Amino acid sequence: MSIRRQRLRTFLLPSIVATGALLYFVTQYHYQIRNTISYATRPIWDTAEGPQHVIPHYHGEGLEMNEHVCQLHGWKKRPDAENYRVLDAILVSSELDLLEIRMNELDSVVDRFFIVESNATFTGLPKETYFANNRARFSKFEKKISYRLLPGYPLEDGQTAWNVEAKTRDTMTAFLRSHMTEFAPSTRPLVIMSDVDEIPSGHTLQLLRSCDFGTSIHLQLRSYVYSFEWFLGFNSWRASVNLWMPGSYYSHRKSGDVMLADSGWHCSYCFRTIPEYVAKMTGFSHHDRIGGQLSLLDPQRIQDTICRGKDIFGMLPEAFSYVDLLAQINPEPQVSAINLPRFLIEAADRFKFLLPGGCQRTAETTAEVETLDAPDDLER
Ligand SMILES: *[C@@H]1O[C@H](CO)[C@@H](O)[C@H](O)[C@H]1NC(C)=O
Repeated sequence: MSIRRQRLRTFLLPSIVATGALLYFVTQYHYQIRNTISYATRPIWDTAEGPQHVIPHYHGEGLEMNEHVCQLHGWKKRPDAENYRVLDAILVSSELDLLEIRMNELDSVVDRFFIVESNATFTGLPKETYFANNRARFSKFEKKISYRLLPGYPLEDGQTAWNVEAKTRDTMTAFLRSHMTEFAPSTRPLVIMSDVDEIPSGHTLQLLRSCDFGTSIHLQLRSYVYSFEWFLGFNSWRASVNLWMPGSYYSHRKSGDVMLADSGWHCSYCFRTIPEYVAKMTGFSHHDRIGGQLSLLDPQRIQDTICRGKDIFGMLPEAFSYVDLLAQINPEPQVSAINLPRFLIEAADRFKFLLPGGCQRTAETTAEVETLDAPDDLER
């Protein structure tokens, strides 16, 4: 055998096989590879995108929202605080548990809840109208609720899920505008703009109603995943409170550079049942993360992931410093349930899945769970 042929055998063939294997791996897992590289280096090339000016937040139980407290935050007390109305504008998808916790947390300070819900997903598929179908569960707040159903239809040619999402926010804008005329002309409406799972604390809204913070302020929220057992840091900033004026619109983007520290909770992926996780993971905005790996949807794997506080897609967390990145890769379970929404503690028996030690999920669909819950709710 010639030397050349021997070389071919020992080097060339294995390298062809190795290259082939590498190519296969790269094409199969390109999303995961890209994610790992970009997320692992993120602290070097990226900075947090939220508002940079964070106002220290002062609070103690029973604190009176007076001139002194306003001053601590650098604000003046409103001379006409009685003219201010707090309106909570919520786009509901399916998270009725968090909605109930939210409405109870904010009940003492919110004057009206504006709820918009569609009978289709952002991708135009038919969807249950969870709020309308379970409205009795919220009967305690009925007098404060204004509800609008947004009829959804299959996507038209050229239309994307992003268009539908934008349309949903526009619907909320129109809905709010149409109701502003019901208030006296002297009324100054403060609108909370946040997703259902971004829950501002009641005392934060009391502070913002009492003190003149300007026309718009973001709320920094404690970020949790799966439940209040897994704390990820203070990196949620999209929620905001805005003085509503003619021309205002409903937004979930950065509207200014000022943010009030530690103003509530953001509980992502805080679902009661495993099927809700599967639905969320296969939903439009996360479809690419599955990257063809159907094993990610295995219920047992999802359950383990929830109990260990790991990333649901098996990816690196989005962090802007290596300290945060390491902390989020291997989070420590919280054993404290202090300073959480009060209703969550009062109704702890119904919300075990959101509390430390309650990571075990049920396999039933939401609908079944909600039917089971209903009689309990009606007694309240
Ligand atoms: C939503 O409701 C509207 C009006 O009732 C109806 O025309 C439409 O077909 C429904 N959409 C879906 C996706 O079921």
